[in-house]
Amino acid sequence: MSTVKACLFDLDGVIVDTAVYHYKAWKRLADQLGLKFSEQDNELLKGVSRVRSLEIILELNHVTKSAEEQTELATLKNNWYVEMINQMTPAEILPGAKEFLEACRAAGIKTALGSASKNSGTILNKINLAGLFDAIVDGNHVSKAKPDPEVFLKGAEALAVKPSECVVFEDAIAGVEAAVNGGMKVVGIGSPEVLGKADMVVSGLDKMSLKMLNGL
Ligand code: BG6
Ligand code: MG
Repeated sequence: MSTVKACLFDLDGVIVDTAVYHYKAWKRLADQLGLKFSEQDNELLKGVSRVRSLEIILELNHVTKSAEEQTELATLKNNWYVEMINQMTPAEILPGAKEFLEACRAAGIKTALGSASKNSGTILNKINLAGLFDAIVDGNHVSKAKPDPEVFLKGAEALAVKPSECVVFEDAIAGVEAAVNGGMKVVGIGSPEVLGKADMVVSGLDKMSLKMLNGL
């Protein structure tokens, strides 16, 4: 790839590790409902919307709930989740994330957030990182969940760059697929066994450099 004009970042699992808070909140809900939900089950929820996450937990337990009940349960879970993320501090930024964002901006590469979360504003404020993004697109702005590319295409549009000029950073399979579906290059954050569809996989943004973008 010759010219990278923008880097688009997923939030949960790339910039911060909120999976543990999502797990605690879903686990509390599952326990209250007498449903089984393990840390392994939690892996299925990465990159997946709040509503879909609840559906997955119900499906795993062969339980059905009305639409009204589902809304109530998702809200209950979210209230517990928000209590936890309200306690977050900049110390929870994953290694290398802030430094890589700063390096992008110093090099004139635009930055955007592309997250499924409707809580991204709260998290970015708590970790004091909102100022490092030129555009923020999250679950409040999209109607189609990853692997649909909508969240990243809206990010590219907000930055006024073409999809082919963007590199996406993602830790979830659905997110990697969303980037590919949007015609963007993608760097997987995690393990190559899981994120095989990515153009490159690193264990974290601390292992990423601007130079590596040229190799994509
Ligand atoms: C994604 C997480 O970033 O956001 C998912 O990986 C989560 O686990 C989704 O379900 C929606 O988050 P929220 O904050 O809107 O409930
Ligand atoms: Mg993620």
